[in-house]
Formats: sequence, structure tokens, C-alpha cells
Amino acid sequence: MAEALQVCGVDFGTSNSTVSVMQNGRAQLIALESGSVTLPSAVFWDADGLPPVFGRAAIAAYTSGEDGRLMRGLKSALGSSLIHEKTRLGTRSVAFTDILGRFIGHMRDRLEAVQPGTRHVVMGRPVHFVENDAEGDRAAQNVLEQIARDVGFEHIAFQFEPIAAALHYESSVDAEELVLIVDIGGGTSDFSILRVSPEGRSRADRDADILGSHGIRVGGTDFDRLLSLTQVMPTLGLGSLINKGKTPMPMHYYIDLATWHRINFLYAGRALTDLGQIKYDAAEPVLIDRLIRVIEKRRGHSIAMAVEAAKIELSETLATPIRLADMIGVDTEASRTTFETAVAKPVNRISDAIAEVLARAGLRGDQIGTVFMTGGSSSLPTIQDTVRAALPGVRLATGDLLGSVGTGLALDAARRFA
Ligand SMILES: Nc1ncnc2c1ncn2[C@@H]1O[C@H](COP(=O)(O)OP(=O)(O)OP(=O)(O)O)[C@@H](O)[C@H]1O
Ligand SMILES: [Mg+2]
Repeated sequence: MAEALQVCGVDFGTSNSTVSVMQNGRAQLIALESGSVTLPSAVFWDADGLPPVFGRAAIAAYTSGEDGRLMRGLKSALGSSLIHEKTRLGTRSVAFTDILGRFIGHMRDRLEAVQPGTRHVVMGRPVHFVENDAEGDRAAQNVLEQIARDVGFEHIAFQFEPIAAALHYESSVDAEELVLIVDIGGGTSDFSILRVSPEGRSRADRDADILGSHGIRVGGTDFDRLLSLTQVMPTLGLGSLINKGKTPMPMHYYIDLATWHRINFLYAGRALTDLGQIKYDAAEPVLIDRLIRVIEKRRGHSIAMAVEAAKIELSETLATPIRLADMIGVDTEASRTTFETAVAKPVNRISDAIAEVLARAGLRGDQIGTVFMTGGSSSLPTIQDTVRAALPGVRLATGDLLGSVGTGLALDAARRFA
């Protein structure tokens, strides 16, 4: 008997990544780091030129104060001109595509240890890397495809992340129904409507069952940025006056500091020199001094992690401190109400996107049987309220929030390459 073809799925996420394979006819996520099936999409590059480290090890190297650069949210660079740039890492200058290549190459090394010789991959992709720009979308996928080829895959296909999640959901259904997948991740929110059924599981070509897809560039890293800008950045001088009270502090320092994939720009450019000047004419120099110390000590990612931790806490409680004492000398408070006000605009866009995917499928909300919610940010109460308001009375189901897309990609790979 011919040996079964070795296939895999790769979900390269803005915040977390997974790799999946088929074992005994079932899709399984493989352990990527010390027994864990999710790998935080993080790379730490040591200042001394040692090879980079990945995932939790990267975050640990940074938080323990090792000299070097942490990079997170790298997937966001795929949909921007940043992807064609280089960034300074200590004495070296490294292209973003190389950093992505190292990260995906690391996942491929883990895969080799579990299932050697895998050449067939289905890679997940958001419905849109870039909004309203078909060419930019194609370019982003091409970059990812080239990286997959460079790390050793030969047969590379792409699948929309929400469709992969639908295939995973389909493994649990016992009757035909229309499902709306709502995947709210770290960088994008993606939506697909599919007809799923027990019989569908064995069909390779599902085009006729995919009724519509839509995606927007809104995700958990945006919610982090907005929480940071409203609750944290004012303690570092955002909104204070400079230039003898005539002008407000420039916004760009705070946007960079609050945006995961832009933090390192503050360390590499002229920020410290310029802020040293600005401080002399500032109405509240103490706040600018704090900002200067954060940049000098490279605490940007620590602040972002404290903000993210508080955001996650707010999914369970109504108020929580944002623990910044180690970074800036004071903690600040966040409440669910202030958070929900700060993120109201992007959350409204999610509501509009649900209406749009229904329109693309030519369906009314009451024709949807189940909404399957996945992605880490689908835990947010404001997102769940938004989905309930958009589809009153619908059944909400959730599964493995961080693993559904990855699991579905292996199922897709097995059927496509069979
Ligand atoms: N309990 C929670 N409440 C709110 N947000 C959460 C919670 N748990 C995780 N998150 C957020 O979920 C996001 C990560 O989700 P996920 O791993 O699904 O994203 P991703 O797949 O990496 O991103 P994408 O699919 O957009 O590329 C992060 O922004 C994280 O802060
Ligand atoms: Mg995802």
C-alpha cells in the first residue's frame, strides 16, 4: 500500500501561531514549545549576534532584561510597506522578510521533528491582509508563499482562516446547517458563512458550500493600542502641552509606543534626542522624563504586555489596575466601561462587517443556524454583545479559540492534497 501523503497546516497568527498534522485520520496540533501547541508570534534578537529565539523564550529573554530586540505582531507588517524594509538589530540590519522567514523556519523545524519530510502545506491567511487593495493582498500572500518555499515547502496552498475554522467546527456537527464563523484574532477580524454537514466532511471541493467571506484589519492589537492611548500614554505626556503651552505633544511617539510592531522604531530613530529638546519647553517635564526613561530602558513591550494583561483581565472583571510601577513608577486603572468606550469604533466596524458578510451571502440573520466564535479576542464581552445584537436569538458556539484555524488547515490539506 502506498504510504499516506504527509501534509500539514500552518496558522501564522499576529499573536499566536500553530502547526497541525493528520494523525490516524484526525487533525492534531503539534507541540511547538515545551509541550505547548501555541507559539507566541515573537522573535528576540540578541544584541551580541547570537541566533534569534522564538515564542515564550523570546518574551522571557526580553523581560529578563537581556540586551537585544523583541519583535511581536510581525504579521501586521505583511499588509504594509514595512515588509520591504529593514530594521536595525544591534549592529546588524535585518529585512522584515528575513525575520518572518526565521520564525516560520523555526516552526518548520519543529514539524520536521514530528513528521519528517513534509512538503505539502496549507497556510492560513486573513480574508484581507490589506483592506480595499486587491494588489496589496496578493503581494502579501506572495511574500508568505516565498517564505514558505524558502523554508522547504514545495506544494503550498492558501486558505482563508475563517474557512479553516469552519472545517474544524464541521467535524462536530450531526446535521446540515449554515454557520457564520466569527474569528476575532490579534490583527484581523474574519467572517465566513458556510454550509456544513456530516457529508461535507468527505468532500474535497467545498466551493459550492462557501456562501461568503469578509475581513477587516481590526484585532486585539488594536484594542491594546486604544486602551494604552487612553489609559497609559497620558501618564507619559500624551495630551500635555509643549512649546511654552502653545502646542500639544506630538502624537507619533505615543502611537509607536502603543503599537506592537512599531515599538522598536522609537529605539532606533531620533526620538531620544528630540525628546531631550522638547522637555525644556514642556508644561509637565516630569511626564516627558518618564517617556524618555521608557525609551532609554526599552520598556515599550513590557508596557504593551501590561496593557494586554489588563485588557484580558477586563473580560472577567469590571475594573483592574494596569501594572506599570516597574516601568514608569506608577500603576494606572482601567475599567470595562472606559475600555469599551475606547474600542467602540473598531467594534462597530465588526458589527458592520457581519452585516456585510450576510449581504455577500444573500442571507438574512435568521437563516444562520449557529455562529461559531473563535480567535482570542472573541472572549471580549463587547464582541459577544455585538454578535448577539447583530443576530438576535442565534446559537453561539465556541471551540478551541487559539487552535481552531490551525486544526482546520490540516483537514483542508488532507482533502486537497489527497
Ligand atoms: N480573554 C481574553 N479577552 C480578550 N482578549 C483576549 C483574551 N485572550 C486572548 N485575547 C487576545 O486575543 C488576541 C490573540 O488571539 P489569536 O491568537 O486568535 O490571534 P492570532 O491568530 O494570532 O491573530 P490573527 O488571526 O488576527 O492573525 C490577542 O490580542 C490577545 O490579547
Ligand atoms: Mg488567527
